[in-house]
Amino acid sequence: MQLLLPEARALDAQDLLHLYDPGEAPGVRAGFVLSTDGAIAQDGSSRPLQSAADEAVFHALRAVSDAVLVGAGTARTEDYGPVRPRPDGQAWRAQRALPEQPPLVLVSRSLDLDPAARCFTGPSVVVTCAAARGGDRFPDVLVAGEDEVDLPEAVRQLRERGLTRLLCEGGPQLLTAMLQAGLVDELCLTHTPRLLGPAPGLLTVPLTRELELQHLVDGGDGVLLARYRIS
Ligand SMILES: NC(=O)c1ccc[n+]([C@@H]2O[C@H](COP(=O)([O-])OP(=O)(O)OC[C@H]3O[C@@H](n4cnc5c(N)ncnc54)[C@H](OP(=O)(O)O)[C@@H]3O)[C@@H](O)[C@H]2O)c1
Repeated sequence: MQLLLPEARALDAQDLLHLYDPGEAPGVRAGFVLSTDGAIAQDGSSRPLQSAADEAVFHALRAVSDAVLVGAGTARTEDYGPVRPRPDGQAWRAQRALPEQPPLVLVSRSLDLDPAARCFTGPSVVVTCAAARGGDRFPDVLVAGEDEVDLPEAVRQLRERGLTRLLCEGGPQLLTAMLQAGLVDELCLTHTPRLLGPAPGLLTVPLTRELELQHLVDGGDGVLLARYRIS
């Protein structure tokens, strides 16, 4: 892989961890892979859009985060498992006395989640609201809001637990709500060189935000990985 901007240089797995290191400041970044025409899924899954470069950055983003936030829809359709950093990410976390695995934080209004699902075989937190029924089926439940999930309150409570550098892996419904609440600081996008035609995109409602390019990586085979700051 090759960093193209802000300066040109070759990158190895270790460099990727440094490049995506969010530092000490609390914040939320979102990571997505999308086609050139903006599709985030092909036949209902993001897997066909992924590549070796996307996977490398996906794992680096996870390794440098305190927790990984995901909407229940994505956890259900993508059969999410626990977050397991690769060996270089594990070493990175050990050097910084971070827990071996960042917890998976699942956001759900309905709690239509199977406690026996793979995502609950590692550290996990379920974020829901007071009106939801069945929270006692999950090992760790964070209640934020009465009838709907209050995302700013959820982020506040996660920060209180020391989970300050959050990675949001979508999906579009959760990303849109997080953006509407002004909670997202950064977008890390993998641009896969493919046209797909009408398909779900990043956002579920019209919404305008200006993005400032922080860096651009050439992942090979036409894959471009960009990190944007949201102003
Ligand atoms: N290309 C990529 O990088 C990428 C990344 C992620 C997902 N995807 C794709 O996106 C598709 C899924 O899209 P989606 O929009 O349905 O995903 P999603 O946002 O993960 O899931 C929607 C569900 O998550 C919960 N949720 C989201 N926002 C919430 C909020 N503000 N408050 C309470 N609950 C909230 C709700 O769960 P309950 O129904 O349980 O209440 C809601 O029904 C899949 O095809 C997946 O492959 C692609």
